[in-house]
Amino acid sequence: MDIFLKCREYEDAKRVQAAGVYPYFRPIESTAGSTVVTHGKRRVMIGSNNYLGLTHHPRVQAAAKSAIDRFGTGCTGSRFLNGNLVIHEELEQQLARYLGKESCLVFSTGFLSNQGALSCLVGRNDVIYSDRENHASIIEGTRVALGDTIKFRHNNMADLERVLINTRQKYEGALIVADGVFSMSGDLFDFPKAVELAKKYNCRMYVDDAHALGVMGPKGQGTEHHFNMVGASDLVMGTFSKSFASIGGFVAGEVDVIEYIKHKCRPFIFSAAMPPPAVATVLECLKMVEEEPQHLASLWKNARKMKRELALLGYNTLGSKTPIIPLLIGDDFTAFAFTQKLYEHGVFATPVVRPAVPDGCALIRTSYMASHTESDLNYVLEVLETLGKEFGIIGNQGRQEELAALAHTHFGV
Ligand SMILES: Cc1ncc(COP(=O)(O)O)c(C=O)c1O
Repeated sequence: MDIFLKCREYEDAKRVQAAGVYPYFRPIESTAGSTVVTHGKRRVMIGSNNYLGLTHHPRVQAAAKSAIDRFGTGCTGSRFLNGNLVIHEELEQQLARYLGKESCLVFSTGFLSNQGALSCLVGRNDVIYSDRENHASIIEGTRVALGDTIKFRHNNMADLERVLINTRQKYEGALIVADGVFSMSGDLFDFPKAVELAKKYNCRMYVDDAHALGVMGPKGQGTEHHFNMVGASDLVMGTFSKSFASIGGFVAGEVDVIEYIKHKCRPFIFSAAMPPPAVATVLECLKMVEEEPQHLASLWKNARKMKRELALLGYNTLGSKTPIIPLLIGDDFTAFAFTQKLYEHGVFATPVVRPAVPDGCALIRTSYMASHTESDLNYVLEVLETLGKEFGIIGNQGRQEELAALAHTHFGV
């Protein structure tokens, strides 16, 4: 059989396109922080991970430009061989200090950091205990790793303990892996309880702080700092593709572990290094989060306002405690149609449908930034009020109760 047959028979995207509600790959013509221009029209962006709004900050842009002058546009090789710049090493030292870790290793993307670190550390006789809603890059890492993976119910520590009791003795090493902030639902991992279980059952702890970095903790240092438990996770992973306005990722932990990953990890060794302007961007962002607390303060002011106002309108936001605020919609098609209407009204958001969420639990993922203005947010609320009523998501007691029941059954809130 032709391996391309499945491609010719693939209809899902075409069906959504034919219905005129396809929400993906919208070409962005220009961006200005909290707004973008697409199809010739300015729209408020509520689908970005640019939490601190630093992609357009003059200090950050100047740093990126001057790195190009000094190092050129790319590294044209792996750090292992010809692509290791002094600024990669400076970034690793600065990050380790900021996070309170012994050492740190910078990768070209967050995806590669997870895939690489997990697959290189977890051997044939080891096991990974992985939250069911972990990011795809963690799942990829667990697939490449030689050891087994056992999933536990999302953020359910009783279920984690159940699987630990049933299986831990079969393996040598063990690693509990979870997102610190879950990327779709925006909920916080029960880190304190997981750490307790890791100790009790002799496991190592690994937290993916992609959405916690720059957001949680007094200076945005992430999950450990948010819970005032610095040092409680053996490894912390993060990405620069969100708050740090760039691209790249890292793993931080004790020096021996980081040195081992540095010399054994194939996605680190056999992939070209993070480009100079991307590294310089992150270094500048790091300085800014420490010197200018106003960005973090604005982010939380905006997130709290939206959380409060969306709840008042009657939206079910799955109890989010972060700047990622999902709106529970129901079926996939309604989520696509609702997103399309938002787009037509000048609001850029993204739907989350199966298999990323359970059947019938499609969401619109909204996320807020330090750079949103009061008028951006008020406009978004106005549009969400009108459309929410039009689609019967809010202002309809029966439907709101149905959605609350779905949230309870599938998300435990
Ligand atoms: C939780 C989580 N981990 C890892 C990644 C991968 O990061 P990157 O975009 O830097 O490859 C993402 C990005 O989508 C993420 O949300």
